[in-house]
Amino acid sequence: MTEPAVLDLVVIGSGPGGYVSAIRAAQLGLKVASVEKYPSVGGTCLNVGCIPSKALLDSSEHFAFARSGIGAHGVNVAGVSLDLPAMMKRKDAVVKGLTSGVASLFKKHGITRVTGTGRIVRAGEVEVTADAERTSLACRRILIATGSKPAGLPGIAFDGRRIVHSTDALTLPEVPRRMIVVGAGAIGLELGSVWMRLGAEVHVVEFLDRAVAGMDRQSGLLLQRSLERQGMSFTFGASVEAAEVRGDEVRVVIRKSEERREETCDVLLVAVGRRAYSEGLGAREAGVEFDERGRVAVNAHYETNVPGIFAIGDVIAGPMLAHKAEEEGIAVTERMAGLAGHVNYDCIPSVVYTWPEFATVGLSEEAAKERGLEVAVGAFPFAANGRARAMNEREGQVKILADRQTDRIVGAHIVGPGASDLIAELVVAMELSASAEDIARSVHAHPTLPESVKEAALAVAKRPIHI
Ligand code: FAD
Ligand code: NAI
Repeated sequence: MTEPAVLDLVVIGSGPGGYVSAIRAAQLGLKVASVEKYPSVGGTCLNVGCIPSKALLDSSEHFAFARSGIGAHGVNVAGVSLDLPAMMKRKDAVVKGLTSGVASLFKKHGITRVTGTGRIVRAGEVEVTADAERTSLACRRILIATGSKPAGLPGIAFDGRRIVHSTDALTLPEVPRRMIVVGAGAIGLELGSVWMRLGAEVHVVEFLDRAVAGMDRQSGLLLQRSLERQGMSFTFGASVEAAEVRGDEVRVVIRKSEERREETCDVLLVAVGRRAYSEGLGAREAGVEFDERGRVAVNAHYETNVPGIFAIGDVIAGPMLAHKAEEEGIAVTERMAGLAGHVNYDCIPSVVYTWPEFATVGLSEEAAKERGLEVAVGAFPFAANGRARAMNEREGQVKILADRQTDRIVGAHIVGPGASDLIAELVVAMELSASAEDIARSVHAHPTLPESVKEAALAVAKRPIHI
């Protein structure tokens, strides 16, 4: 079957980058088709990423709280037990609700949904294959939003049961007795937390000298200590060299410097990053250039070297985050419609949804130093926040970095309860070029967690402002 009319835009991939682009383009009057090979729309994020992982994080947090946290509130609960199939069913229902929601939005906006694998034949033509059927889409522009896939380790094959990546770790049929996680990044710590809360002994092996490397070191250490207190253990400066399934267990060879030791576990979760995905896309054959890490190369306007072909999201450079992909999707389509779309890469928040959460935006203290920027640092512990104490939460702090000369906020790092929501105030502050004093002088309701943000801002200006 051939689609006769020329479309304004064909978006390949319907993750947060692709579906947001398709909807924004349709809102702006473009005739759009979305091509997706997975049976449901929503991409990694909705189907096997952000959403199912957060659903399990929430459920497992309730379980852990019911088992050990609620007693501190004077509530006695007996006979708490886990119904893992019910937990998984709820997670699946959350995913289904959201992916069907995106499908309805496509319908509402008149977006043509084409299910199948998209291949760029040339600029202006995409061929979609589903089973034996081929559809040719003629279009003015093509947007590559094909996302990313889990990276593996050389010589260690995923089997979907015992040696798994994040997708399989979202559907384990039973709680492992012992899980070894390779990689102390967002996936390792989040999914490690889920299974630890449900009863697994979790050990994390990390190549670098700390968890969540790349984020503010002192804040990362607060998170690591808190996870250790919950029972997660770490080996740093080490990597998994080999792994072999033997019966019901995995034998894992861990190498640290010249030393090798063998450990066993029921499940080995490999969480060592993700790589841009463009297999079978035909982009290379169509002349599109890629960078040294296999990502589609684009200019500041998300244009590839081939006129009429654009790319956004995980498949291009930058943080692999859903909201980054979404913002790029809005910016690229707005530019196609003659508007001035733009993404401020200095203000992209990032959150690790462990307990406590770790939310960050802007420069870490180390990155500021590396840039030769003199910063004033203000911090405030949740242990001194009335609302946090009322909630029985004492862990973590808000830390704000401001330029010592101008007082402009250049970074913020929050470890603690509600960090993922609290960071929004600091993202807006940074977008509006606010100073720490601007936040310090803004009235925050009492007693609330955001008061810690104000207190950290006050702590930045330790010297009197008017003398
Ligand atoms: P994707 O979401 O990967 O979507 C790409 C889509 O393209 C896929 O559906 C794929 O099937 C389709 N596709 C690929 N090739 C073709 C083709 N040739 N034809 C047709 N379709 C094709 N980010 C956050 O910001 N917050 C989080 O909490 C978070 N949690 C995560 C948890 C996990 C376990 C994982 C794995 C990731 C998480 N992420 C999170 C990262 C986030 O999922 C990604 O950054 C985001 O999905 C990238 O969006 P995208 O649109 O670029 O690509
Ligand atoms: P990551 O890049 O965040 O962390 C991977 C970790 O593995 C790094 O610390 C790295 O040093 C380590 N590592 C690499 N090779 C190793 C080896 N051989 N041995 C031991 N350690 C090794 O990648 P992760 O956690 O897999 O996540 C992938 C992407 O998904 C990230 O870009 C992340 O942004 C995104 N994501 C975001 C989430 C969020 O925003 N909450 C949640 C989950 C994923």
